[in-house]
Amino acid sequence: MIDTLENNDILITSNTSTAPHEILTKIITDVLAIQSSLIATRETANSKEGFLISLFNAEELMSIIQKGGRLIIAEYKTSETGKQTVGYLLMTPIAEFTDLLSNKSEHSAHGRFTPSFEFDFANHEYLYQIGVSKEMKGHRVGRRLLEYVLKNATSGILTDILVEPVSNDISLQFFYKHDFLDAGLLELGEYRSFGQLKSKVLIWSK
Ligand SMILES: CC(C)(COP(=O)(O)OP(=O)(O)OC[C@H]1O[C@@H](n2cnc3c(N)ncnc32)[C@H](O)[C@@H]1OP(=O)(O)O)[C@@H](O)C(=O)NCCC(=O)NCCS
Repeated sequence: MIDTLENNDILITSNTSTAPHEILTKIITDVLAIQSSLIATRETANSKEGFLISLFNAEELMSIIQKGGRLIIAEYKTSETGKQTVGYLLMTPIAEFTDLLSNKSEHSAHGRFTPSFEFDFANHEYLYQIGVSKEMKGHRVGRRLLEYVLKNATSGILTDILVEPVSNDISLQFFYKHDFLDAGLLELGEYRSFGQLKSKVLIWSK
């Protein structure tokens, strides 16, 4: 467990398909380790702790990056251990989200979106996932990752957070705190191994 964290103990970098292959492979391995530690099932999901339901493999993550995605990572620097990846945020072109609605995604079926107001998907990037290692939770690593993305944003940002069968309350609060607004409800008849779900779609405007 980490007690206190200075701002300059954390290094944020953005990584795209132009990064050297071995660096990208190492980053993907680190990200998947954090991701798998945060994955919950319908039975274990805890709304007060936050959780993930999309577990990727290295091939899928590499393919998302090659299709224009970027992995923003947070590394914790210590004199003893060097650099350790402690959090990540995955941004993608909006198609990763809209494919859920047009049932083009191989991971979902029977998608339906009910917007709360009119907006154009085309003006948005998709924030697919954010995760912070459990030992670093609550130390503002998530905030640092999101602030980096918002500061460098060239368009609006859309994300979605599970609300049924279990509401990811911590994550909703996290995004509301950073000026994301409710933009509608996504319903999926099937999603990966999770089954049927509803998620709140949130958007942030530049
Ligand atoms: C949600 C998550 C990314 C937040 O990252 P974090 O580094 O723990 O959060 P931070 O320390 O940066 O907190 C930022 C704000 O979020 C809120 N927050 C974060 N954790 C909280 C908690 N346990 N209880 C209440 N509020 C919390 C606080 O309002 C905090 O505001 P502050 O900076 O003014 O104190 C992280 O907890 C996580 O990885 N959760 C599991 C995965 C997940 O749910 N991802 C979202 C779906 S894709």
